[in-house]
Amino acid sequence: MPHNITIQKTEKSRISEVDFNNIGFGKVFSDHMFLTDWDGQEWTNPRIVPYANLSLSPATSAIHYGQAIFEGMKAFRNGDAVFLFRLRDNWRRLNISADRMVMPEVPESLFTEGLKTLLSIDKMWVPGSEGSALYIRPFMFATDDFIGVKPSEKYCFCIFTCPVGPYYSKPLRIKVEEKYSRAAQGGVGFTKCAGNYGAAMYPTKLAQSEGFDQVLWTDPSTHTLVEETGTTNFFAVTGDGVITPNLHETMLAGITRDSVIQLLKKENIQVEERPLTVSELKSLHTEGNLKELFISGTAATLINIEGFSHQGNYFDVMKSGNTILSDMVRSQLDGIRHGNIADSFGWIENI
Ligand code: COI
Repeated sequence: MPHNITIQKTEKSRISEVDFNNIGFGKVFSDHMFLTDWDGQEWTNPRIVPYANLSLSPATSAIHYGQAIFEGMKAFRNGDAVFLFRLRDNWRRLNISADRMVMPEVPESLFTEGLKTLLSIDKMWVPGSEGSALYIRPFMFATDDFIGVKPSEKYCFCIFTCPVGPYYSKPLRIKVEEKYSRAAQGGVGFTKCAGNYGAAMYPTKLAQSEGFDQVLWTDPSTHTLVEETGTTNFFAVTGDGVITPNLHETMLAGITRDSVIQLLKKENIQVEERPLTVSELKSLHTEGNLKELFISGTAATLINIEGFSHQGNYFDVMKSGNTILSDMVRSQLDGIRHGNIADSFGWIENI
């Protein structure tokens, strides 16, 4: 173990207090967490400690100026076996965010050893019921206690985990956003920085007050091109195949998005990664050629869109469509992640 991670175990596990049949999403935290500190030169003091509050100065730089990034990944149980999904891809994306936000990269060996050590200690927290998983939240934030605006010298990198059920429990009604923007050209839309989510909350709250579950973001210049939702990437199924907006600097490169595309291609289903306009979506719907809409993300997995609203008109997709293709992709993805279907992509690791 090259990183000499010190381990302090909890004196009393909380696992017996958890109702694993009713875990919800993101409110129950496993017994331990992994921490390491960047001292300006290197990552120091890697350690596993009981999950607990962190003690921070009110002047902590991340709280004021937003140098805070995170990842979302999952581990799955199949009997006694636990499978980790696309570890390396999440590590890579964390460092893409870190570079853009002027934060130190986390070496692959430290990320992997920290996470695997944590999972080996909290393996019993990986739930086994249908639709459940252990959600893993690696994150990094600036810890200088300094009020001037500049990149922090010190950082904390932490990984904690939570047993979770589904993020969404039903197909979503979404609103095409035409006034507000999630990200701008030249900005940080392609990173998983905390500010991207904070800035999305007001328009999302407005959409929810109008009876929608989520916002479907459009490009910041013209609001005519579909991008992603507040929590996921976006897919449209037509009579010819699948269309998903091509990645660019205002969008997050979803790892589940990539998995969906690879699975579809393996099934010889045509996937077009290209600009998709709201007008095209509406025309497809009018022609009866919009078969399914679905979204993908680590937390959400793969969820159908019931319909979308644009300029006050609601386009109900599920009423006239079906869920055949999304059901197929969901069950393939689930099968691979649980080790029930052979993983020809090299995505899972038995830990
Ligand atoms: C994830 O899917 O892991 C995310 O980070 C999205 C978040 C809204 C839960």
